[in-house]
Amino acid sequence: MSTVYLNGAWVPKSEAKISVDDRGFLFADGVYEVTPFYEGVPFHMDRHLDRLRSGLDWMRIDYDVDELAGVSRQLLAMNALESAETSIVYIQITRGAAPRSHPFPKEPVPPTVYAFAKAWSRPSQEEWDRGFEAVTVPDRRWARVDVKTIALLPNVLAYQAAVDAGVADALQVRDGVALEGAHNNFFGVFDGEVVTHPITNVILPGITRGVVLELARENGLAVRERPIHVEELADADELFFTGTTSEVRPTVRVDGRPVGDGRPGTITRALSRGLLRRIERAKEAAREVTR
Ligand code: PDD
Repeated sequence: MSTVYLNGAWVPKSEAKISVDDRGFLFADGVYEVTPFYEGVPFHMDRHLDRLRSGLDWMRIDYDVDELAGVSRQLLAMNALESAETSIVYIQITRGAAPRSHPFPKEPVPPTVYAFAKAWSRPSQEEWDRGFEAVTVPDRRWARVDVKTIALLPNVLAYQAAVDAGVADALQVRDGVALEGAHNNFFGVFDGEVVTHPITNVILPGITRGVVLELARENGLAVRERPIHVEELADADELFFTGTTSEVRPTVRVDGRPVGDGRPGTITRALSRGLLRRIERAKEAAREVTR
């Protein structure tokens, strides 16, 4: 039985209870974050907490995220996940519980703060080398998907469309532009140039996306942040998704059509290796500190 964090308390998951008046439950009035840990070492936790802080500020939820770095580490320890190769901490903060009424509660109520940790597994090297498939789906989300709110119904439906099609990823398309996956960002390689949508209100500013762009630039690759149109997908040399639990995931078919030569491309491979090296360096740096 896992131990979770709820409003300052550490409780067995089965005993964690929230009110039916919780505005997260009633209105999806909240934000969340998924932070990666590798053998117990956080990876760019500061960037994840910064994104959470800006989401809370935008939603006008008064909560200081500073305690969450410690909470996350404690969750890993309490759930014996410090040696897990890959794990995540999920954090959700809602505006709290108050009788149902659309506007913010007149009298401020404490936000609901919930977090849990769990392990996840990477695909095997053979699976990665075969690559993954995606289907395109219409993007039916609202106009501020840069805020990581818990209102994920369109993402849920998009991901289910991928599952129903027997593929790994759903590529969300709006106005002819391939924006991002159900839970990951999207990249293409065109004539050697690494391309991804710029940070605007129509994609989530993914932390992995940012790291992968840094890696591409460090490696001297040409990088361009611009929209990728669906008609261009047929001309792409390589396509891949990035995200906390996707890392760098090569896409070798979209809607049944092969991408490039139908295998993960060399730039995708280089960026994936670069990400894994950065993770190893973070682990080594953490070991140095505890030595
Ligand atoms: N998803 N785009 C969307 C819509 C996402 O939900 C996510 C993350 C990303 C990638 O962001 P990052 O690199 O910071 O993980 C892009 C999380 C992992 C989730 O909902 O499970």
